[in-house]
Amino acid sequence: MELGCGAGNISIYFAQAGYDVTGVDIAPTAINWAIQNAAKANVNVNFIQGDVLKLTEIPDASFDLALDGRCLHCIIGSDRLLFLQTAHRILRPGGILIINTMCNYILTTTKFHNFDPQTRCTIYNGIATRYIGYSNDILQEIIEAKFLVLNAEFLSPRHDEGGELQVIAEKR
Ligand SMILES: C[S@@+](CC[C@H](N)C(=O)[O-])C[C@H]1O[C@@H](n2cnc3c(N)ncnc32)[C@H](O)[C@@H]1O
Repeated sequence: MELGCGAGNISIYFAQAGYDVTGVDIAPTAINWAIQNAAKANVNVNFIQGDVLKLTEIPDASFDLALDGRCLHCIIGSDRLLFLQTAHRILRPGGILIINTMCNYILTTTKFHNFDPQTRCTIYNGIATRYIGYSNDILQEIIEAKFLVLNAEFLSPRHDEGGELQVIAEKR
């Protein structure tokens, strides 16, 4: 399961590698792009429009692997626990959650320049659009959602955006 699949690139990559993949995104436009991209790549992916904070259409313990499609840093405040609890619910016991998320700092060259150090959010038109928390705080959130952190490492900044944390965690 890819949480926040956008145009479907990661889901399509895993489908090409032989996985049985579902990708979910809240944006109907993204899901339309993803369906078209999967058709072009000639692979089957189950793309659904939905809110990763709920995923009411997905039964408990349905997946072995949940990928954060760089969606968690788009989730703000108490919704972040909902995201992690939903990922926990849809995973089978022992299932793996992989998170790739912005953290710690942003480069001043990025498009996310309106950074509020108080909330650690980027702000666009008065709305928080990204949470760029400290890596230790993000790890704590993952642990609070009842995951066991197996590995955590910093990756090179993607698209020169800033700090990037990758976490591999197991559903306990
Ligand atoms: C930064 S994009 C990444 C897209 C894709 N995974 C990739 O790596 O190219 C994050 C995606 O999360 C989606 N998203 C944000 N909030 C969401 C929510 N509550 N439920 C489902 N998708 C959400 C956005 O629509 C967007 O497509």
